[in-house]
Amino acid sequence: MISKPRVLVSRQVFDEVIDYLAEHCEVEANQDDIPFSVEQLTQRLEGKDALMCSLTDRLDTATLQRCTRLKVISNIAVGYNNIDVAACSAQGIKVTNTPGVLDDSTADLAFALMLSTARRVTEVEALIRQGQWTGWRLQQWLGVDVHHATLGIIGMGRIGQAIARRTLGFDMNVLYHNRNRVAPEIERKLGAAHCSFEDLLKRSDFVILQVPYSSHTHHLINAKALAMMKPGAILINSTRGGVVDDAALVHALEAGVIRAAGLDVFENEPKLHPGFLKLQNVVLTPHIGSSTETTRRAMAMCAATNMIAALNGQVPPNWVNPI
Ligand code: GLV
Repeated sequence: MISKPRVLVSRQVFDEVIDYLAEHCEVEANQDDIPFSVEQLTQRLEGKDALMCSLTDRLDTATLQRCTRLKVISNIAVGYNNIDVAACSAQGIKVTNTPGVLDDSTADLAFALMLSTARRVTEVEALIRQGQWTGWRLQQWLGVDVHHATLGIIGMGRIGQAIARRTLGFDMNVLYHNRNRVAPEIERKLGAAHCSFEDLLKRSDFVILQVPYSSHTHHLINAKALAMMKPGAILINSTRGGVVDDAALVHALEAGVIRAAGLDVFENEPKLHPGFLKLQNVVLTPHIGSSTETTRRAMAMCAATNMIAALNGQVPPNWVNPI
């Protein structure tokens, strides 16, 4: 009898995912969800054919070199900057991700951050809870309008486009910057105009970051970029920590270089730059861009489907390093 492939699921997943994997594989799960150290992960990967992991697992060259049997890494995320993909390709390891299923949920969260920073939702809610609302006043807690404002989207992939679609109901003017221009019919449909990075920063009332993290996008938004933005502008980062230089952003928010920021992701998360916690003009969420029940279930199942296809010698639907 041919033995089943052996797989490790590094973090807690929904029960239906374990059930599906168990139909095809011998599964070692971590339903207690205690994150593995790099050493623990490496040890558990000994003798495993496949790994289902999350963005909290770092798969670097040294770790991968010790996993001689590993053939598939299925990341439960669209971003895969936690994995050294070049090292995987060199070792013949297939890497997969979960694009598509999270676009709308992530776009919703980017929009939520934009609306709540513009209208100071978390700031004033905290004041109500502290008993500091003594009555209505005309000039109280004035925000800025989202409707009819100019939004600059940096990164016009699937999620960037989902964000642009949402602006139609808000009558926003949309600029975008992307490595490659999107097709003219998409630009037309979204009412989005391509422009340079610098132009976008100078002209936008809101800037949403939707580029993947890589060495090319590391600290894309640094002190120089922040200084190019309008003093009244609001920055939203719903993609990956590291695309923004957090220390430079804290300084810019303290000094009034820009008006406010809405942040779902951070450098070194879950640790935050302590400066963010002291500021009123930031809205902070803990990397929940894709976190709705439906979407997280879909992501985990998508990762499972990718893994089983790859283990069965089929082309996995979301293969990031065709080798
Ligand atoms: C979430 O951050 C993802 O990359 O899917």
